[in-house]
Amino acid sequence: MENSGTFWLPRAASTYAADVDGLFYFILWTSVVIFALVVFGLIYLSIRYKKRGKTELTAGISHNTKLELTWTIIPTLLILVVFVWGFRGYMKMRVVPKDAIEIRVTAQKWFWSFDYQEGINSVGELVVPAGKPIKLLISSRDVIHSLFVPDFRLKMDAVPNRYTIAWFQADELGEYQLYCTEYCGTEHSKMLGKVRVLSQGDYENWVNENSQLGQGLTLEEFGRQLYENKGCMPCHSLDGTTKIGPSFKGIFGHEVQLTSGETVIVDENYIRESILNPQAKIVAGFQPVMPPYQGILKPQEVDALIAFIKSLKE
Ligand code: CUA
Repeated sequence: MENSGTFWLPRAASTYAADVDGLFYFILWTSVVIFALVVFGLIYLSIRYKKRGKTELTAGISHNTKLELTWTIIPTLLILVVFVWGFRGYMKMRVVPKDAIEIRVTAQKWFWSFDYQEGINSVGELVVPAGKPIKLLISSRDVIHSLFVPDFRLKMDAVPNRYTIAWFQADELGEYQLYCTEYCGTEHSKMLGKVRVLSQGDYENWVNENSQLGQGLTLEEFGRQLYENKGCMPCHSLDGTTKIGPSFKGIFGHEVQLTSGETVIVDENYIRESILNPQAKIVAGFQPVMPPYQGILKPQEVDALIAFIKSLKE
């Protein structure tokens, strides 16, 4: 079922999105009604009781019990409705269903990575099956980030040194935009991701393919696959074009100038260090913006990336 959202809200694609929206609209429209009553009442009364001369004085009114009870009881009831409605929705969003699939979410400057129980690590893309509750166990490796999927009405901070928990269930297949919604540094606005909701069968295929990632490939081919999947591609070109980082084309075995003024030969050790701890040696003319891949790439994946970079001759 395709639903493209409304003027007020993006499409509602998680199981609890409708509850969030219902309450939002209730608060919106009661506010609109009260706003109109106050503003038009004010205008009406200003005109009706405009002072027309010294003889027309208003009587000294001290109070009006009926009016005071009305404007106390009605707002109190409205607030109670909002509280009960909101609390029920909140409980629904906080209590993770028992049979949820657990996925570890790690935020760091400036990308999201997702670890599955099958040992798969996916960078920038959260792949989930439709119709199944998904539990996200979220943390950060550096500063506070915040995971936000507007279509799911899902938002949760990623905090260093602790876990935060969120869950969702998406029933519609498709792709949903994922944002970082906590300002976390210069590349914050580019800290985006995708949620891909697949059918159960497609999800199982995806898990099978990815848990065998690299099998049957040469080291170079595996390296190319990692280059495309692990977030290298947006910043490092293969054709000599300068992007956020240096191009990989023909760099192996050559000397490069660093921001410190020193020069270094691009060899296996330099590439390894630059992947795991990129801030150590920055090539002159570039900013130290690359995230460290320590703990994200396995040793054989680093080997594969080195083999791939080696293969990119001028
Ligand atoms: Cu991470 Cu903003």
